[in-house]
Amino acid sequence: LVDRLGTRTIVLVGLMGAGKTSVGKRLAAKLQLPFIDADAEIEKAANATIPEIFAKHGEAYFRDGERRVIRRLLDGRPKVLATGGGAFMSEETREAIAAGAISIWLRADLDILMARVRKRSNRPLLQTADPEATMRGLMDQRYPVYAKADIHILSRDVAHDVVADETIRAID
Ligand code: S3P
Repeated sequence: LVDRLGTRTIVLVGLMGAGKTSVGKRLAAKLQLPFIDADAEIEKAANATIPEIFAKHGEAYFRDGERRVIRRLLDGRPKVLATGGGAFMSEETREAIAAGAISIWLRADLDILMARVRKRSNRPLLQTADPEATMRGLMDQRYPVYAKADIHILSRDVAHDVVADETIRAID
């Protein structure tokens, strides 16, 4: 499989709570590739947390930094790259991924997503009166775009290991 991947990076896309970071870490360990989380790289570059970046500079500024950080991460050695839920919505980012990487959409149902994001309150987009309605809106808006990813994997209530194995089988 690593041969077949050649120099291509594996990019995980999907909504908040889909398991991009958790599954990505397992996937990277199994494939002996480095794991990088784009959100963590953005925080490092900005020396601020994502909620701080949103609060101080707004979403457009965050998206701009996100595009630049992902472009940089797509260069260089192959890796497993987890992206923030909004990253794949950028056409420029989708084109950069299509040019040299393989995209995996981790799809999950609403109840799974909500159960997972409830545990962490670090998502500025979900600081609304009705986070579940907000999430449903994001599903409507984003699923048609995530569907452009090369491979679709159902992320569900099983061990991340199982989803990572299914992903490897789907690439292979
Ligand atoms: C976002 C998802 C977050 C983070 C930011 C915006 C989104 O990443 O990039 O809060 O637009 O869906 P995760 O998907 O890793 O939570």
